Amino acid sequence: MHLAALLFASALSVGTLALDNGVMRTPPMGWLAWERFRCDINCENDPKNCISENLFIDMADRLAEDGWRELGYVYVNIDDCWSSMERDAKGRLQADPKRFPGGIHKLARYMHDRGLKLGIYGDMGTHTCGGYPGTTLDKIQIDAQTFADWEVDMFKFDGCYSNATEQEKGYPLMSKALNATGRPIGYSCSWPAYQGGLPPKVNYTLLGQICNLWRNYGDIQDSWDSVLNIVDWFFENQDVLIPAAGPGRWNDPDMLVVGDFGLSMDQSRSQMALWAIMAAPLFMSNDLRTISSGARTILQNKMAISINQDPMGIQGRRIVKEKTGIEVFWRPLLKNASALVFFSRRNDMPYRYQTNLGKLNYTFGSYKIFDVFTDKTMTLKDTTDFVVSVNPTGVVMWYVSAPAKRNLRQKFRQTILQNKHWTVETDKGSLRKNK
Ligand SMILES: *[C@@H]1O[C@H](CO)[C@@H](O)[C@H](O)[C@H]1NC(C)=O
Ligand SMILES: *[C@@H]1O[C@H](CO)[C@@H](O)[C@H](O)[C@H]1NC(C)=O
Ligand SMILES: *[C@@H]1O[C@H](CO)[C@@H](O)[C@H](O)[C@H]1NC(C)=O
Ligand SMILES: *[C@@H]1O[C@H](CO)[C@@H](O)[C@H](O)[C@H]1NC(C)=O
Ligand SMILES: *[C@@H]1O[C@H](CO)[C@@H](O)[C@H](O)[C@H]1NC(C)=O
Repeated sequence: MHLAALLFASALSVGTLALDNGVMRTPPMGWLAWERFRCDINCENDPKNCISENLFIDMADRLAEDGWRELGYVYVNIDDCWSSMERDAKGRLQADPKRFPGGIHKLARYMHDRGLKLGIYGDMGTHTCGGYPGTTLDKIQIDAQTFADWEVDMFKFDGCYSNATEQEKGYPLMSKALNATGRPIGYSCSWPAYQGGLPPKVNYTLLGQICNLWRNYGDIQDSWDSVLNIVDWFFENQDVLIPAAGPGRWNDPDMLVVGDFGLSMDQSRSQMALWAIMAAPLFMSNDLRTISSGARTILQNKMAISINQDPMGIQGRRIVKEKTGIEVFWRPLLKNASALVFFSRRNDMPYRYQTNLGKLNYTFGSYKIFDVFTDKTMTLKDTTDFVVSVNPTGVVMWYVSAPAKRNLRQKFRQTILQNKHWTVETDKGSLRKNK
């Protein structure tokens, strides 16, 4: 298929309606506690790292003061192990009083005062995965109302300790209950991850109508093996997953582990690039108080973020899988622009991959290329051969402008200028020319 035909095919699949709560029209961005901090409740011995209001306040301060918020990283999300082991006298969930002495409502206010949002966690079942009180079918309404009363902005509904029948009732019921509170609350459903992530057990049309995002697959860990395993599953099943995604409804391959211990800098760029291609939610799970400048630079890359946040919300795909271990990924973007990622599965040395845009099915024309991680620019005709040098387990990532044809020279000049002096509007997810 040619680029235009592919675009058309992608556009056709975006017909399904999304959950009508107005939020998350582009993939949500922020910070989520789980991968890095797990269920560390040992505040006596580990006060800086335990699941407590101090941890979330620290991360909120970093997001607000270190340039993250302005780039779109606005959610501060609590995961498991936040609650007391007992519901209160009125049957409501309550935060652990020792670790969250101010309570969740006050924490939400703290976020809102700083232009941030608060996310919280619950579980469709008798217990959370960590053994805290779960939300059985009879508790759905009261828990939704409790989160709304606390002015929470996002809710992740895990699925430990429930069966398929209960999940089939519970996830849509919670969607209704959240809506009935009148507060727009982004709704993250772990449901498909508990049902194998694929049809016929998973109905992605239904998910798009009731959830804003959903975990399709297993939890990420702090290792390249884990990242690669997730990447493999998502792109092997891309024909099922791509049509499910769109504004307000996203596949979630799980958190970014960039800035932790398991990934090299090349692997960190690979995770960022592939999550941008997948239109994945960008929830970092790292320690923003001590993050290295290298990891920060990757996570704060404006061009990668703007690709992730493209307003069309079309999830990208793998278009080439070479025997040499080089793979090419492509995502259509607003205004006939696109993103390309050249990825190497090799483990010997940087590989010089030769191809041209025509071979990648780009139509006739001249394209301005912006290299996302080196800031270099160049112009390529569809017929011009080029070579990219891709590091082992690394990527080269390009933003490719709309084609400029020879008889449209004036228009082309404008495109170059825009690319040289672009800025990012994270709220709209679009590129804007600098003044
Ligand atoms: C280009 O289009 C052809 C014909 O539709 C298709 O067979 C091929 O897989 C496409 N190649 C890429 C890289 O998308
Ligand atoms: C609830 O659902 C209705 C109908 O889909 C929608 O118009 C409304 O905005 C929703 N409200 C919230 C708070 O999600
Ligand atoms: C699921 O759980 C419910 C209630 O706990 C039980 O009544 C039902 O039989 C279970 N269904 C299956 C298929 O295991
Ligand atoms: C999936 O859900 C949609 C929307 O609720 C429904 O119309 C459709 O029949 C379901 N598909 C299957 C195969 O159950
Ligand atoms: C995008 O490409 C299509 C097909 O080549 C063309 O008709 C359309 O005018 C282009 N749109 C923009 C905004 O450049």
